Amino acid sequence: MLNIALPKGRLGDKVYQLFSQLGCGCPELEQGGRKLVFENPEEGVRYLLVKPGDVAIYVEHGAADVGVVGKDVLLETRADVYELLDLGFGACRLAVAAKKGWQEDLSLPLRVATKYPNVAKAYYDSLSRRIELIKLNGSIELAPILGLSDVIVDIVETGTTLKENGLEVIATVAGSSARFIANKASYQFEKDTIDRICAGMRERI
Ligand code: PRP
Repeated sequence: MLNIALPKGRLGDKVYQLFSQLGCGCPELEQGGRKLVFENPEEGVRYLLVKPGDVAIYVEHGAADVGVVGKDVLLETRADVYELLDLGFGACRLAVAAKKGWQEDLSLPLRVATKYPNVAKAYYDSLSRRIELIKLNGSIELAPILGLSDVIVDIVETGTTLKENGLEVIATVAGSSARFIANKASYQFEKDTIDRICAGMRERI
């Protein structure tokens, strides 16, 4: 049985459609509900519905053999997994944003609010810029508005959230899109199956 970590939510719907087109569907999953594990023994697949930010952790530890995760999450978690394919969808970028017209004071540590502390630290280390990290879990855009931080490091997709909150991008840190990943040991044992899925996905993206 191949264990597939499926991110819950919008990305997950798209990813499931892709697996389904490859003959790995699971009718029970399509009915919805609150179940988190769905099996299709005939196709030899078991789906695990997990938080998008946790997909790489399940795959790294072998609780799932394969999964689909945003590159942003891979950069943040630095999970030790094989990144097999860029699926192209879920495209966005990790960026630094601040209030419109904000001026940086280089004599002070920069206060950075983010859901991505490792990404933010690596970025500012590369610039030799001293920072103070403020880890938040959502609604990051509030931080500069309330004076909690100078800037944010966050995902920008359409740019609407920044715009509607009077913020603007001041630097791009990295691009991101959905990636098909595999556990390293699973890839040795299930190479043919995983390669077949990967090839099928490549044809459909
Ligand atoms: C993400 C991200 C931004 C927003 C960017 O938040 O943190 O707030 O999407 O998208 P946009 O550029 O298309 O406006 P999410 O919706 O995940 O909610 P969150 O605030 O709970 O993190």
